Amino acid sequence: MKAIRIHNYGGPEVLRYEDVAVPMPAAGELLIKVQAASVNPLDWKTRAGYLKDFFPHSPPFIPGWDGSGVVEAVGPGVTKFKQGDEVYAKTNRDGTYAEYAILTEPEAALKPKSVDHLQAAAIPVAALTAWQALLEKSQLAAGQKVLIHGAAGGVGSFAVQLAKWKGAYVIGTASAKNQAFLEELGTDEPSDYEKTRFDDAVEGVDVVFDTIGGDTQERSWKVLNKGGILISLVQPPAPELAAKYGVRAEMLGMQADSAQLAEIAKLVDSGRVKVFVEKVLALSDARQAHELSEKGHVRGKIVLKVV
Ligand SMILES: NC(=O)c1ccc[n+]([C@@H]2O[C@H](COP(=O)([O-])OP(=O)(O)OC[C@H]3O[C@@H](n4cnc5c(N)ncnc54)[C@H](OP(=O)(O)O)[C@@H]3O)[C@@H](O)[C@H]2O)c1
Repeated sequence: MKAIRIHNYGGPEVLRYEDVAVPMPAAGELLIKVQAASVNPLDWKTRAGYLKDFFPHSPPFIPGWDGSGVVEAVGPGVTKFKQGDEVYAKTNRDGTYAEYAILTEPEAALKPKSVDHLQAAAIPVAALTAWQALLEKSQLAAGQKVLIHGAAGGVGSFAVQLAKWKGAYVIGTASAKNQAFLEELGTDEPSDYEKTRFDDAVEGVDVVFDTIGGDTQERSWKVLNKGGILISLVQPPAPELAAKYGVRAEMLGMQADSAQLAEIAKLVDSGRVKVFVEKVLALSDARQAHELSEKGHVRGKIVLKVV
């Protein structure tokens, strides 16, 4: 099969498009004919070796943590899926930048019927992250106020829609060019970080969702209500600052979850959650996709078309 492989950690140039043996599904595993894989910042962080202490694999490996495709074969003991099922998944060992990939049952769910594989592939990592941050960790409730940083990005675009579905009041940050997009997503109060310091304009927030870190996280503490929560994807929040401001603070490490993917598929099929794909590139153009993702200004998602 054709696949992208990484033989050495490094820049986008280490992504090689080459021939690789088709993997065989073992017990509990599915072999998927991948139709599309999504590109997440996690992919280039993995490629660069920044996460080598966290993930138990070393080069050569096939990148890609999520995607959508058709079940080609199942290993012994698989009961939930059969050949021909259209599934989408977040894998725990990457490998979706390829014509075939291995998944385990708990990583996969039937893909939403109302969208094609290109859109379905864009969902798992980003939407599961938003779900786990807002609905699990923060227990976001109707009427609460949430501040979502990076609201125009992959995670942010799902986070805004999930928060609106829960009945929250949503403030979202993005640059000037994405203000109309934030409105399209349903943001109640779009905030242009190039024009306004959000901490001068916002107060009384119950949940801060930090997808940016650094100065953005630092300035977020003071907008929180006592008893609120700051949840970050990128930088562990300091416990002493959480104590000082009387809030909870957590770092999220998102996990594969097929039950949550099934719930998200229902929301997509009911039209409550839309998928925004800014760019579709061929699998062989993975290098270009990483270069774009690393700039940090993707609107919605980048997807690699495999078939
Ligand atoms: N811990 C975990 O489990 C986990 C899971 C998923 C993702 N992550 C991490 O979370 C981060 C976000 O992921 P993602 O997939 O959403 O990334 P992404 O799609 O690449 O995010 C891009 C977005 O960030 C916005 N942005 C850039 N600088 C900003 C700023 N200063 N203020 C507000 N918005 C800004 C951009 O909007 P403009 O173009 O308008 O600036 C763009 O729309 C990444 O670092 C990723 O690795 C962690």
